[in-house]
Amino acid sequence: MTRNMTPFNKPSLVGDEIANMRDAIVRGQLSGDGHYTKVCNAIIAQMTGSRAALLTNSCTAALEMAAILCDLHPGDEVIMPSFTFVSTANAVVLRGAIPVFVDIDPRTLNIDPEKTAAAVTQRTRAIIAVHYAGFPADMDALSQIANDHGLVLIEDAAQAFGSTYKGRPAGSLGDMAAFSFHETKNILSGEGGVLTLMRPDLLERAEVIREKGTNRSQFSRGQVDKYTWVDIGSSFLPGELVASFLYGQLQQADKILARRLSFFDQYNDAFADLAGSGRVTRPVVPSDTTGNGHMYYLMLRNRADRDAFITHMQKEGVNTPFHYVPLHSAPAGLKYARFEGKSLPVTDDVSARLVRLPMFFELGEDISKVITSARSYLC
Ligand SMILES: Cc1ncc(COP(=O)(O)O)c(C=O)c1O
Repeated sequence: MTRNMTPFNKPSLVGDEIANMRDAIVRGQLSGDGHYTKVCNAIIAQMTGSRAALLTNSCTAALEMAAILCDLHPGDEVIMPSFTFVSTANAVVLRGAIPVFVDIDPRTLNIDPEKTAAAVTQRTRAIIAVHYAGFPADMDALSQIANDHGLVLIEDAAQAFGSTYKGRPAGSLGDMAAFSFHETKNILSGEGGVLTLMRPDLLERAEVIREKGTNRSQFSRGQVDKYTWVDIGSSFLPGELVASFLYGQLQQADKILARRLSFFDQYNDAFADLAGSGRVTRPVVPSDTTGNGHMYYLMLRNRADRDAFITHMQKEGVNTPFHYVPLHSAPAGLKYARFEGKSLPVTDDVSARLVRLPMFFELGEDISKVITSARSYLC
């Protein structure tokens, strides 16, 4: 990266992260489930309107826990978009089950409820809705499908911390949700994530799965007199250094949200005329939702136009990456998954045309450079 390059993302300290890490060391517990993990779990449950929250090492880990909680068996199917990160699908494949990819809505880029309903079979056990760019999927329609067929509804809310749907926060919209605190996300701890639950009946097993398949959490609370191996599981919990850093970020969640939303609005205003003339497509904020300023993307005319834009921006000193490569046509997708219908045309089209603009807490005045550089290509 050249010295004056504007990165796509940059992690920032926003509050008491370092002081908290020191305090965690002084407190004398660096393994998981100490003071900072507990305060993070409590504040996240409150912020997401969920019944319980369990910090994990990543959103990937939270999705793997969710897949175990679904009790998937080989041959079971889980419906999800192909326009997502590999972890959504891997969590299912690791249980021997089959991801069934369906197309996305061309306006919201979220899973299409009609296509979801059409993909339900006797083997379907769950739906995973990804809230792309932080904008919640059409959860009422998906809940209806899940209820009609007795399916578990999981939110892959990796990007959606702080977003709402019909006044309800992401994390309270399905049976369980997985969030990411990876350094590219709004609230970050380097690597990190959380599983939130709306069903209290899942909590006891979730705690066991997260603690290597043992009832150690119950033991710590004095509910059993020794802890032992009771179920499958893995080491899904982070240590206290990560949790203490995360707590510093969570305390500043409102400030981070406001700053990112202001960048989103600045971008949106700057490209309004080009959207009006049809030169680009801007993000569509689905009705009844509020976003969290996680991402700002543009869609260009076609793949060649998008790739030329990325090259131009690189020359201008701005990093503007593309996003998901569709999973249904990826090597592992062909091997482990199937998709609904003959093709997923919206997914292929969006993946070829979408480009993301820099978005991070300290973007500041660099946003003018990004906008000027982008307009010099687009106008
Ligand atoms: C939709 C989605 N799900 C899951 C993940 C995985 O998150 P993590 O890196 O915290 O495991 C990502 C990562 O960006 C994502 O975009």
